Amino acid sequence: MDSMHCWIELDKGALIRNYRFFVSRLGHERVAPVLKSNAYGHGLPELYEMLKEEKPSWICVNYLFEGVKLRKMGFDGRVLVVGPLLGQELNQAVGAGLDVTIGNEELLSAWISMETKPTAHIKFNSGMCRQGFNPDDSDALGKRLLAHKNHIAGASTHFANVEDVTDSEFAMQQLKYLESVKSCWQGLGFKLMYHAASSASSMIISESHLDLCRVGVSLYGLWPSPLTRLSYAKLYPQLAPLEPVLRWKTRITTLRDLKGGEFVGYGCTFKASRPMKIAVISVGYFEGYPRIAGNDSRSFVLVRSKRCPLVGRICMNMMMIDVSSLEQVRVGDEVTLLGKDGDEVVSADDLAAWSQTINYEVVTCLNPQIPRVVLEGEGG
Ligand SMILES: Cc1ncc(COP(=O)(O)O)c(C=O)c1O
Repeated sequence: MDSMHCWIELDKGALIRNYRFFVSRLGHERVAPVLKSNAYGHGLPELYEMLKEEKPSWICVNYLFEGVKLRKMGFDGRVLVVGPLLGQELNQAVGAGLDVTIGNEELLSAWISMETKPTAHIKFNSGMCRQGFNPDDSDALGKRLLAHKNHIAGASTHFANVEDVTDSEFAMQQLKYLESVKSCWQGLGFKLMYHAASSASSMIISESHLDLCRVGVSLYGLWPSPLTRLSYAKLYPQLAPLEPVLRWKTRITTLRDLKGGEFVGYGCTFKASRPMKIAVISVGYFEGYPRIAGNDSRSFVLVRSKRCPLVGRICMNMMMIDVSSLEQVRVGDEVTLLGKDGDEVVSADDLAAWSQTINYEVVTCLNPQIPRVVLEGEGG
């Protein structure tokens, strides 16, 4: 893929302002940017390069290889692997100086049996039922781990139901479970950091901040959900200044005049009801544009600051758009798939709505091969 056809622009100023918003809210030491999944599709190397001058104390990743990449890029702060590792990966974590998350018996046994151990964060299941030990077992677990306490840095959990509700009842119950672990383990003599929060809870549940907040999607300027945005606006009438970091662009490669009655694309799903002008653009589902968005009559891209509806099915590397309403249009014209163009904008939330998913999936599905271009801006 080359940048003549499709590219992603990253606004460094926006990233830094988003990061500093969380630092001002939570304190520098508490903010752990989450750079997993290719930095939520933004591009791990580019994201790290943009962020490094802010000297984050922590960075979270999902996989070991992502942590190793950060080390190779020179990050010397703490790296926490939040995803589940396999026992045989633990040695590599020692070599790269990564903190690991331990949330199941198999990994714990492998970790205990190691002579030289990576620093661990013990995960508790407080309601997500994905990773983690039962908080009810914290006394027995704590006693079993006492001999290794110098190698344990933290205890953590993950909220299951903050983004989809406007009340925090379930999250508060989850916090209580983690608090029960804390009081038990403090009694046993552990001195640990406790963490639970991600973007939504960092913004709307101050009780969740504890010692570390693992901030993912909102670092990139995206709201975890419309309900989080609503809850935040109720609590803090001046809306949080989250600015999307990413713009996704392509170009028109072909223009075509259609007669009324002609069909467009695979399956002949679109029929021109009148003479019209369409353009072919250089992006399809391989690049990460959700194919299903082509079925939604609301979907559009921006050309010359105007909305141009998608027509026909999205192909592997191309899609067709209706440019009939443009007074002027040329092959080579820039097309905005995500982001702002003049007074118009296509947000990751729009694209998520047209494709029946969430903004997280829209950005993390952007093909890593798409060239990323960093725009140096204010605040960097
Ligand atoms: C364990 C863990 N912590 C934090 C995050 C960040 O969540 P968010 O992107 O909602 O801030 C994630 C994201 O999936 C996660 O899995």
